[in-house]
Amino acid sequence: MLSKTIEAALNEQVKIEAQSSQVYLAMASWAEGQPGIDNITQFFYRHSDEERMHMLKLVHFINERGGTAVIPSLEKPKEAFDSIKQAFKELLEHEIMVSESINKLVDITLGEKDYATYNFLQWYVAEQIEEEALARTLNDKLELIGEEKSGLYLFDRDILNVNVEGGDEA
Ligand code: FEO
Repeated sequence: MLSKTIEAALNEQVKIEAQSSQVYLAMASWAEGQPGIDNITQFFYRHSDEERMHMLKLVHFINERGGTAVIPSLEKPKEAFDSIKQAFKELLEHEIMVSESINKLVDITLGEKDYATYNFLQWYVAEQIEEEALARTLNDKLELIGEEKSGLYLFDRDILNVNVEGGDEA
């Protein structure tokens, strides 16, 4: 059985994952309107789907542990970006924010001595390490490319092989 404190903290994370899905969906939709970056577009759509799965995993856990998951209203995400580089920079910043939120949540479970939830959250801890590392790698590559169109062509080609980890385990 979840304590009220843990239930509220998990529901807060439900909102963050749902908002993440919205933010990346907006990036995907924007990218779809830009010429020649079909794979980048698909990357953002996939990432949005992964975040929805992160949210669902939390919803199921809360309900199965005797709590009540709350499906939240969301903020309207940003619609347009200055550049692809800018979108990926915001993606990294967003993931760093999510990692901080997961870490706080883990702290709360330890304070409450809720080891079942602590154990459940280890999946998210590992997931955030993967997602932040991926976002950093992609940002580093975009930094190297600079304004070169040929570099962006290769970046779009290579991102086809990048997997956003973890969603299929949800
Ligand atoms: Fe589920 Fe990328 O945070």
